[in-house]
Amino acid sequence: MTTDDSAPTSTVDDQPAGFGDNLTNPVNQRAYRSAIVGFVIATIGGLLSAWAYANGDTDRLLGIGIAIAFGGIGFGLVSWAKYLDLDDNVVQHRSRLRTTEEERQDFDEEMVMTGETVGRRKLLVALFAGSVGSLAVAFIGPIGSLGPKPDGQLKHTGWSAGRRLVTSEGAPISIDEGRLDQLATVFPEGEIGRDDSQVILLRVKPEILTQRTIDGGSVEGWVAYSKICTHAGCSVGLFGIDDREPDVTRQLLCPCHQSAFDPIDGAKPVGGPAPRSLPQLPMAVDDEGFLIATSDFDRPVGPITWTEG
Ligand code: FES
Repeated sequence: MTTDDSAPTSTVDDQPAGFGDNLTNPVNQRAYRSAIVGFVIATIGGLLSAWAYANGDTDRLLGIGIAIAFGGIGFGLVSWAKYLDLDDNVVQHRSRLRTTEEERQDFDEEMVMTGETVGRRKLLVALFAGSVGSLAVAFIGPIGSLGPKPDGQLKHTGWSAGRRLVTSEGAPISIDEGRLDQLATVFPEGEIGRDDSQVILLRVKPEILTQRTIDGGSVEGWVAYSKICTHAGCSVGLFGIDDREPDVTRQLLCPCHQSAFDPIDGAKPVGGPAPRSLPQLPMAVDDEGFLIATSDFDRPVGPITWTEG
């Protein structure tokens, strides 16, 4: 059996020894160094954000550090991909297989180079893990600051049975005072200024109230509703009356997106985007003639998105 000496030997034409393993290629060298620089910068960014959080600089340095960390990791990964030549099309031209002395030497050299490549990859993997780790450390503080899960607080306000309605100056409301069709903002006694407990109080002629409003806890024409709009939580702070007979209309208005509520009929929405009525505060009168609540609201105040899942 003879061999055809004129047959071409096995070659890999014009291709690198492997996916970017050859650091004699200047492009690969640059990509390798860039990947190292990217991961080192990312590690510094992560540590910077952790330091910023620990020192209370959360409005500027924390964000800058996280941005540097993410940017560094992205840059490092892209450079790593370039180092591996992942974006190149590799075409290997094969011919008849026969091993020459020269190819054996090439193989030996390649084995040596492979050992070096594994070492370089270990360095890149270690740097990448370090940068991701520093980023994770940077997030530990902010995640820990999220605090405990809400536990029913959004379903309760400062109102309870027997609590007097008082003005922002602390004055209780006598059932005999107050002019008709005049809006006032009141709070539970002892909880003045509490956001979720603001109430708008209005007095109208008792005979115009709907049964639903009377059942909801009106007292001799006094009606009280949560001041927090059920659309997006703005303050329902306006009251309008159109007293042209025969169709006199009264409306509570939210200035944010023009939701309108009917105070005569349980503060049901009559215009705008608000999806549901303002919760009504049930009231009574105490021994001294002042308005008091008989319970908390019968449902959560504010937009539906405020309620807990
Ligand atoms: S928040 Fe009141 S209408 Fe949008």
